Amino acid sequence: MLPIVDRPTIQYVVEEVVRSGLEKVVLVTSPDKGDIEGHFTHNARLEQHLRESGKLKELQMVEEIAEMVSVASVRQENPMGLGHAVLVTESLLAEEPFAVLLGDDIFSGDVPCLKQLLDAYETCQASVVAVMEVPPEAVSRYGVVAVEPVEGSDDRLFRVRDLVEKPAPEDAPSNLIIPGRYILTPGIFEALHATQPGAGGEIQLTDGLKGLLEREPLYAYRFRGVRYDAGNKLDYLIATVQFALEHPEVGEEFRNYLKGLRL
Ligand code: G1P
Repeated sequence: MLPIVDRPTIQYVVEEVVRSGLEKVVLVTSPDKGDIEGHFTHNARLEQHLRESGKLKELQMVEEIAEMVSVASVRQENPMGLGHAVLVTESLLAEEPFAVLLGDDIFSGDVPCLKQLLDAYETCQASVVAVMEVPPEAVSRYGVVAVEPVEGSDDRLFRVRDLVEKPAPEDAPSNLIIPGRYILTPGIFEALHATQPGAGGEIQLTDGLKGLLEREPLYAYRFRGVRYDAGNKLDYLIATVQFALEHPEVGEEFRNYLKGLRL
């Protein structure tokens, strides 16, 4: 719920879902995370209060958020890893392909990262993960893929041949990492059930994907745009500056303020 400019980080993620044309969101939260779901649902008392005190702009904002998308939430009682977080949604999602968006990863760019993945899914009709290049020394913070080109496609779509979660730089199969966006087929649930704890003693989604790869093809799409890790202090600050510069209300004044700084 940490805000970037004027909305909580999670709202950027939900807006990416909406802008990509999907309509339902399942939030996986931990018991100590408070009422995130409440942020996306109508709050009659708050709305009445804003109406009565003439705060119509704020009222409109609160109503828009509530109408954005249908949001349900599932609790992950114990922090047993990202793969486990996906597993706890099984009873809600096991029927058809779905997207996974990590709440710390936010993106800017003309076409939402998720929309690019959905278009890639239309082409390959199989699970597809977003990928991006990072400096070789940074790979140990991420899930890393080994890929090969797909004949006849652009230089953005690849067939995944292997995956490793948080490898040491010398063991990494490439410097292509997964920045927290996935389209997965329901086959991932069976693969995750068979996945043993991996890096950090957690059930890793990357390891589940490796299991899925034994049964189904898996693709990687090198998305266009910029990704920020809101869980990292410096990246969070950079994201705040970038989104503030693009903000329709404060962008121009903020740009002038930055220009006037003597750094
Ligand atoms: C998680 C995933 C990792 C992915 C990363 C993206 O790691 O396990 O594969 O590359 O998110 O942000 P975490 O950031 O939870 O350590």
